[in-house]
Amino acid sequence: MPAISSTASGKIILFGEHSVVYGHPAIAVPVTEVKARAIIRAAPRSPSGEIFVDAPDINLRSSYHDLPQDHPLAAAIRLVKSALSISNPPACQIRVTSTIPIAASLGSGTAVSIALIRSLSAFMGRPLPDEQVSKLAYEVDRIHHGNPSGIDNSVITYAKPVYFVRNEPIQIINMAVPFTILIADTGIPSPTSITVNDLNMRWEADPQRYNNIFFSVEEIVISARTAIETGKPIELGLLMSRNHNLLRDLGVSSPELDHLVKSALHVGALGAKMSGGGRGGNMIALPNQEDIVSLSTNLMNAGAVRVIRSNLPAAR
Ligand code: MEV
Repeated sequence: MPAISSTASGKIILFGEHSVVYGHPAIAVPVTEVKARAIIRAAPRSPSGEIFVDAPDINLRSSYHDLPQDHPLAAAIRLVKSALSISNPPACQIRVTSTIPIAASLGSGTAVSIALIRSLSAFMGRPLPDEQVSKLAYEVDRIHHGNPSGIDNSVITYAKPVYFVRNEPIQIINMAVPFTILIADTGIPSPTSITVNDLNMRWEADPQRYNNIFFSVEEIVISARTAIETGKPIELGLLMSRNHNLLRDLGVSSPELDHLVKSALHVGALGAKMSGGGRGGNMIALPNQEDIVSLSTNLMNAGAVRVIRSNLPAAR
C-alpha cells in the first residue's frame, strides 16, 4: 500500500482576534507559505492496532499507546478511530513534520491535527469530510486551549479566507484583488491559551469595559470585510492599525509587538497590527506593493526574528 500524505497550511488572523472568543466576528486567512504534513505508511510486520508516531520537530518517537491521553497527537488519533468506529486499524507509522513556527499564532498545532486527521482517516479507507475534520480538530484544540473560538480549525480546514462568528456556519470571503502581507515574528513564544485566559479573568472583573472594546472591534471587522471584498488596501491598512490600538486596550499586545507595528508604520506601511493571541508571536503589516522588500528588511532591522511574505490571491 502506498504512503498516504496530507498537508494543512498555517493561518493568520487579519482582524478580530480575542473578541471572536466572545461571539464577535473575525477574519482569518490561510498562510500557504508554511505547512504541516502527516505521512502514513502501513507497517505489515507489526501487530494490528499498533500505531507508531514520529514527530522529529518536537523530538517525539513513540507508540500511540504510550502517549499521554491528552497529548494532541494521541487525541487526534483517538478521535479519528472513534469517529470511524475502528478500534483495531491496520498497523501503521505516522510521520508528522511542520514548517509552521510553534506558539506564534500561526495555527501550528491545529494544522498538524488537520493533516493527521485527514491522512489517518484516508489510511483507514474512509476519508472524513471537511466539516468533520474541522470538528475533530476543534476537539483537539479544546484540550489545551480551553476555550478556542473555532476560527483556527475553520480557516485551516477550508483553506480559504473566512469571516467567522462562533457557532455559526463559516462564510468564505472573496478577495477582489490580491494582497501581500508581511508576517513578522517577535521571536517570543506565546501560547494562545495564556492570553485568552488572562483576558477572560479581566473580562469577568469588568465585563462592560471589555464588551465595549469588543463592539468597536466588531465595527472594524465588518468594514474590513467590505474593504477586502471591494479591493481597498488603503482602507484596510487604516482598519488594521485601529484594530491594533483596540488590542492594546484589551491588554494583549506587548512592547515588542508595539515596536514592530510602529516601525512598520514609520516607514510607510498602509497598516500594521499584532495578530492572534498576542504578548509575543507575530504581527502583520500591509505594505505598498512597491515597498514589500524594504518593509521586510525594516521589520528585521527592528528586531523581527523572521518575516514571512504571504500572498493572498484574489478569488477566481
Ligand atoms: C487564535 O488564533 C486567536 C484568538 O482569538 C483565540 C481564538 O479565537 O480561539 C486569540
